[in-house]
Amino acid sequence: MTLDSLQEFIAAIEGIGELVRIREPVRARLEVAEIADRCMKSPGGGPALLFEHVVLEGGRRSEWPVAINLFGSMRRMGLALGVSDLDEIGHRISDLLNLKVPDGLLGKLAMLPKLAEVAKFPPRRRSVRAPCQEIVLRDAEIDLDRIPFLTTWPQDAGRYITLPMVVTQDPASGVRNVGMYRVQVLGRSTLAMHWQRHKVGAAHWRHLAERGERMPVVIAVGADPASVYSASAPLPPTIDEFLFAGFLRREPVELVKAVSCDLEVPAESEFVIEGYIDPAEPLVMEGPFGDHTGFYSLADRYPQVHVTAITMRSSPVYAATLVGRPPMEDYYLGHATERIFLPLIRLTIPEIVDYHMPAYGIFHNLVFVAIDKQYPGQAYKVMNALWGAGLMSLAKVIVVVDRDVNVRDPDEAWWIALNHIDPERDVRFTRGPVDVLDHASEFFTFGTKMGIDATRKWKDEGFSREWPDRIVMDEATRQAVDALWPRLGISLHGSGTMGPPGRGPTTG
Ligand SMILES: Cc1cc2nc3c(=O)[nH]c(=O)nc-3n(C[C@H](O)[C@H](O)[C@H](O)COP(=O)(O)O)c2cc1C
Repeated sequence: MTLDSLQEFIAAIEGIGELVRIREPVRARLEVAEIADRCMKSPGGGPALLFEHVVLEGGRRSEWPVAINLFGSMRRMGLALGVSDLDEIGHRISDLLNLKVPDGLLGKLAMLPKLAEVAKFPPRRRSVRAPCQEIVLRDAEIDLDRIPFLTTWPQDAGRYITLPMVVTQDPASGVRNVGMYRVQVLGRSTLAMHWQRHKVGAAHWRHLAERGERMPVVIAVGADPASVYSASAPLPPTIDEFLFAGFLRREPVELVKAVSCDLEVPAESEFVIEGYIDPAEPLVMEGPFGDHTGFYSLADRYPQVHVTAITMRSSPVYAATLVGRPPMEDYYLGHATERIFLPLIRLTIPEIVDYHMPAYGIFHNLVFVAIDKQYPGQAYKVMNALWGAGLMSLAKVIVVVDRDVNVRDPDEAWWIALNHIDPERDVRFTRGPVDVLDHASEFFTFGTKMGIDATRKWKDEGFSREWPDRIVMDEATRQAVDALWPRLGISLHGSGTMGPPGRGPTTG
């Protein structure tokens, strides 16, 4: 089933029993966030929430409900992208990237459906009236204060749009970008755009500012879930996120031209805020904001957006997320990216067997990588390659282990890594760009990184001692105990069953 809109996504979540409707009045200032935080911290990510009675800052009741934590479980993230396991998308990409010339006519014919599928992905312009433009507000009608934007943490500078699709266009190439950048509400018709300097939207803005041209920018909130997710995906600047969303959905995303500029937005969006940035204007203070590091990101200067129109559905739902100390909803969005991008990373670093960014590492702080080590020093080759790959360049700590380590289990990865390293020999420091949100780096966005080679050390790498085997019980004994287990009367705490424990992937 392809989900074409946010409201279809919400209905599908309700259908699988993972939506809680909240009818109690709840304030947009802090209360929605506190409720969502408690859910997001519960095992598995907690339910999605639909707040039907939201109280705005001035005490008025919001005209529209607020949805939050829609993507915040493995099941809902899979539902959003139409798969039961996120690795399915990686396998589809691997298939497409398998550019081997097929043998014979039959082999070539077999490729045709694959090519036809690719041709279906590009977004389509909708000619009939789009749902997102059922209501159009311009000039004096523009009033951002009507929309139930949230204030999420006590020291935040104000209300924020937290789950947007920010659409811009490269002035030179014409290629579109869609990025998920938080946006601070400054007044009835002004916003501050927090695109960090390493992001594509910020590059577009620099290009336009150099030319002295006004920059159109459109912020869409709520659309088909694949498009919302794609805004958060670190695609190369040459790839249009709506094309990528079409690939994920196996259906094109339908777009419509904005009413006050030439940019296009998903026709099914809930809210669309159109505007421009004037490069002649000084930057404005944005933040502080309680961020996904679990700390406040400090106030800094970012461009101001002047709103030229607000369009919306006749009965829109405002979609938000909450970031803060992990785990939060963004872990699941980032985890989808981790799984989907594995085959793309392996195109240039084929020895990578798997990788994982645990929730507490907030993506850029910690990356575990398992490699098929074939030659001395290969762990260093891999970490250097990752530090040269797109937003992976921001990774603070990379830990490389051998292929038999399950990096998706951080306890196992740390257990092996800490056993396998001699710190002075196996830890290296280098320099490079650092995430804007890193508050500890020596300089703003520039600092050091740590690479840990936790692979088995080889003789060719100068290791002359014997390397011990990992302890594993022999199979005959395990089977004998499996057979005995039901008669032993042992109920292990937390297992919930009397079945034989110890058959997990880490013990094999
Ligand atoms: C919930 C959420 C909030 C985010 N907020 C920001 C932000 O405020 N600024 C930013 O530069 N990136 C933010 N990101 C990360 C970007 O969305 C991500 O790096 C994406 O790849 C950017 O798109 P781009 O590669 O087209 O620039 C956020 C991601 C998520 C999931």
